[in-house]
Amino acid sequence: MAMQFETRAIHDGQEPDAQTGAVNVPVYQTSTYLQDGIGKDRGFEYSRTGNPTRQALETALASLEGARHGLAFASGVAATTAVLSILKPGDHVVCGNDTYGGTFRLFEQVFRPWGMETSYAEASEPESFESAINDRTRLIWIETPTNPLLKLTDISALSTVAKKRGLLLIVDNTFSSPYFQRPLELGADAVVHSTTKYLSGHSDVIGGAVLTSNEELHDRLKFYQNAAGAVPGPWDAWLTLRGLKTLAVRMREHERNGLRLAGFLAEHPAVERVYYPGLESHPQHDLARRQMHGYGGVVSFELVGGRGGIDRFLSRLHTIFLAESLGGVESLICYPPQMTHASLGEAGRAERGIKDNLLRLSVGLESVIDLEAELAQALDFAGSRPMQLELVQQS
Ligand SMILES: Cc1ncc(COP(=O)(O)O)c(C=O)c1O
Repeated sequence: MAMQFETRAIHDGQEPDAQTGAVNVPVYQTSTYLQDGIGKDRGFEYSRTGNPTRQALETALASLEGARHGLAFASGVAATTAVLSILKPGDHVVCGNDTYGGTFRLFEQVFRPWGMETSYAEASEPESFESAINDRTRLIWIETPTNPLLKLTDISALSTVAKKRGLLLIVDNTFSSPYFQRPLELGADAVVHSTTKYLSGHSDVIGGAVLTSNEELHDRLKFYQNAAGAVPGPWDAWLTLRGLKTLAVRMREHERNGLRLAGFLAEHPAVERVYYPGLESHPQHDLARRQMHGYGGVVSFELVGGRGGIDRFLSRLHTIFLAESLGGVESLICYPPQMTHASLGEAGRAERGIKDNLLRLSVGLESVIDLEAELAQALDFAGSRPMQLELVQQS
């Protein structure tokens, strides 16, 4: 019987060291390897091409996504770039209209000038992707749930579209992690991760990965990984592996805290709207139940009181840090319009429905009692202050 997820996260690719019995894969901090004769290496020759610590990470990540192959990169955007490297000028991509701002920036400011054209489809409607496909389309790119509006794309419906038209379907699975969603099982051709987030889980390393069972795609990406060279160092690979071992327990807790805080925020008068696939009010809650095994720990919400409300709210947070990124043990809050999604510009954000009163909360593993209390007093302050000012002005 195949091992369960938790077991594979701890053991796959991570056998005890053959020489010493060390139960953890060593950090092979070396750039090169002794060769016993010309053309007689012991499996490794140069660390850009291959490194045992990185290989352990690649094997473990592939196992968790149910892929035959894994490739680790120096960052999530380096992993995205690797996938796009299979395209040539003139090729066309259809992308969901709500993605990490840096993915959009890469498509528009790096690859468009180079000759790749991208059309954006409504992430929640597979038909909208289908109508954006043209003769030059090679690839469909989605994130689900999306960053920052937590929209979902029906992976298996879209994979039917992709297969029918002979296109590759690539899913950025960063928000769910393979613990809550496995796109390859739903028909995707490859999964991309920013391992910076839940997979490493402790906000202490930048990394990325591509996981696939498509042999031809893997061969091309493996060639690219070595030829273009954006690989993680062994220490970063080790940190990510270390994080991975606790992925399952962390994800369960992130979700437990996330569900509770999403419910709390939804009830609070200072909150206009909450985006979280685990809430029954989420327009795609049914799809979330079908396609995911859990809803994750990212909750976005809109505050009353416009931009002033945002500043007042943030001024009252002390353990929830205002910072880029997500998926770490510590709760982080981000203001997408001027942080992760600044590169979209005002018009780009308006088009995608990213409002000026939007916050994205990555719910950490602190006690949910403390988190709720901290949010409650900050929301009370954000919501009440304008009324107090009005009263002062009237009196
Ligand atoms: C969904 C998603 N994909 C990709 C990335 C890019 O990853 P990295 O920052 O590791 O390059 C991010 C980063 O925020 C992200 O949130």
